Amino acid sequence: MAAEVLRGLSLPAKSIPPKYFYDAQGSRLFDVITKLPGYYLTRVETEILRDNQELIARRVGAGTCLVEYGSGSSVKSRLLIDACLPAAYVPVDISREHLEHSARAIFDRYPGLAVYPTCADYTSPFELPLPVAGLPRLAFFPGSSIGNFEPNAAGDFLRGVAQVVDAGGWLVVGVDAKKDRDVLDRAYTDMGGITEQFNKNLLANINNALGADFDLTGFRHLAVYNEGAGRIEMYLVSACEQRVSVAGTEVAFAKGERLHTENSYKYAPEEFGAIAEQSGFECVDVLLDDRAYFMVFLLRVR
Ligand code: TRP
Repeated sequence: MAAEVLRGLSLPAKSIPPKYFYDAQGSRLFDVITKLPGYYLTRVETEILRDNQELIARRVGAGTCLVEYGSGSSVKSRLLIDACLPAAYVPVDISREHLEHSARAIFDRYPGLAVYPTCADYTSPFELPLPVAGLPRLAFFPGSSIGNFEPNAAGDFLRGVAQVVDAGGWLVVGVDAKKDRDVLDRAYTDMGGITEQFNKNLLANINNALGADFDLTGFRHLAVYNEGAGRIEMYLVSACEQRVSVAGTEVAFAKGERLHTENSYKYAPEEFGAIAEQSGFECVDVLLDDRAYFMVFLLRVR
């Protein structure tokens, strides 16, 4: 973590990988974001999954191993578990406490389901637990987290998932759609300042994990929709000239300097379909809500 964070802070355009949002507090704050009135993503994706439970069950079949990338609170997973009746569930998350708590809740609710919580950073390869070796696979990557990769990296990630899932297996992936700028702005900046707290929690996590001394009051949240690039760009903007010590290294910020914390790409259906097809998948269904705000792709490995 120290090496990765220092590398990002030494670039001319400073940046930090978004996975470091998610310590225990970051996971809690993100749960609050998913319930904000403007953050339509979680609500709309849940609605699409609920409306299509039968179709998904028919496609995927029962008895699979459900592998969820970035399982968080494991709320949407319940819709797939109810529909598809998997034999095993492998929630994968970087945030250990949150993962254990969520996995326990699933374990209590589905007594017949084998649950194997796996604490890992899914942006790097990781091992699946041994007992699921022989089961057909259903991968689940909700929340438009795929949009937090650069498009090329999204393709690389999907190729990795295709290897985990294997020929004939399935991936259910949630992807946010291109839409009106106002709707996107409201999703990534809220009046109550929760999104700002979430963004700044990245600094708090670095303070705790690396003994850094970021002053959280010295940065402001900024989210801008870069329409040409098709992405929301998230930054923390330095409110003044300041120096921060990170793992023994001094880092200088100018007033107004931006620290890039995340991109969130928005796709047209055919754009994402092309990436999936180029990454070893067949696009079997694209499920949308009435307003076409969000898309759930049902992809099968070729
Ligand atoms: N994966 C989420 C998204 O792209 C993360 C997110 C939501 C986020 N709101 C944010 C990240 C605000 C930084 C700041 O929608």
